[in-house]
Amino acid sequence: MNKKVLISGGTGYIGSHISLQLYKLGFDVHIVDSFVNSPGKNLENLKNFSNKDKNFKNRIFINEGDIRDRKFLDELFLDISKRKEMFLAVIHLAGLKSVPESISDPLRYWDVNVNGTINLLNVMKKYNCKSIIFSSSATVYGNVKETFLREDLPCNPCNPYGETKVVIEKILSNIFTSDPDNWRICNLRYFNPVGADPSGLFGEKFSYNPSNLFPYLNLVAGGKKKYLRVFGKDWPTKDGTAIRDYIHVCDLSYGHILAMNYLLFKKSQILNLNLGTGKGTTVLELIKTFERVNNCTIKYEFEDRRPGDVSSLIADNNLSKKIFKWYPQKSIEEMCKDSWNCFIKNKYAI
Ligand code: NAD
Ligand code: UFG
Repeated sequence: MNKKVLISGGTGYIGSHISLQLYKLGFDVHIVDSFVNSPGKNLENLKNFSNKDKNFKNRIFINEGDIRDRKFLDELFLDISKRKEMFLAVIHLAGLKSVPESISDPLRYWDVNVNGTINLLNVMKKYNCKSIIFSSSATVYGNVKETFLREDLPCNPCNPYGETKVVIEKILSNIFTSDPDNWRICNLRYFNPVGADPSGLFGEKFSYNPSNLFPYLNLVAGGKKKYLRVFGKDWPTKDGTAIRDYIHVCDLSYGHILAMNYLLFKKSQILNLNLGTGKGTTVLELIKTFERVNNCTIKYEFEDRRPGDVSSLIADNNLSKKIFKWYPQKSIEEMCKDSWNCFIKNKYAI
């Protein structure tokens, strides 16, 4: 039976976790990645898994290339179609994701995220591969008054990165309208993915100057940074620091498996769905939890609010629960533990 899935950005942080789960479920995992932001160990460990496992030998196929390169994608799809096969679905994660970078270099973000997606969709259409799960983001909602963000809220992003996600969702909606009997589309709006597979084998690209909170927490705990800068102490929240809905990357990844399963076995449709736990945590609460479960001290200092930030982002995840029967399992404690475990296993601490 054909069990081929194409995963763009499949050696990145989230993509490597999804690839691993797909592989463990017996799918043939075809990865497309330019490696512009993937840590070498993700690629190495995915290959090791595939090569060492006698039952599933060579089930992970890595294709190095850029999604903006039409010829590269065309050849990949042509090769599969020559064998009278096609990908069951595409899980599309490849893209750039830094909010500050998108403010300083918006053209690069529009080019990679939007042009790259248009290119991929053109090739998918050409080879009649019409099921796609797209990595969208909670950042599409922007600054909203509601505590729990529902999928039917208007999109009002505060930065170019978020705007690219909204535009891609619009393009996907347009192509669905153009051929509603065949396209199966799911935009998954991630809240804040954190943590790592408990093996510590897969993670984010290491940086000494990360913009996200979790990598920075690890650097402080590991003695690589003196203190954490907490952006803003005057947000309208219980302790004045911003609230986010942190979701373990393994739970998030499983959401993709359920989404794909749902799309493939139900009528053609387009869905927008949140992937978050529905629970909010402030920056200060997170620091305390990280210290407690990892037995360390996190020094911090308050700084001004960061441009492009919002006060609170918490998912209303009732739709994902109802439609996919997706119930995130992992606690904030496990997120902190697994994140630190991955950090020290990769010898980044002191
Ligand atoms: P990541 O940077 O670790 O992974 C992205 C992967 O895409 C990398 O392996 C990179 O090399 C690859 N890539 C980038 N540009 C490419 C191109 N032009 N052609 C081919 N490959 C390319 O990021 P991630 O955290 O795993 O995020 C994956 C997706 O999820 C992104 O689309 C991101 O916008 C979205 N997302 C992430 C978060 C988050 O907090 N991590 C939140 C919401 C949405
Ligand atoms: N923060 C700090 N200090 C830091 C880093 C972050 O106080 O050094 C604060 C931020 O101000 C924010 C919270 O911690 O209030 C979380 O910040 P992150 O940068 O970790 O995450 P964001 O919510 O800003 O953005 C993330 C991803 C986006 C994604 C968004 C919503 O980076 O790609 O979640 O899913 F779109």
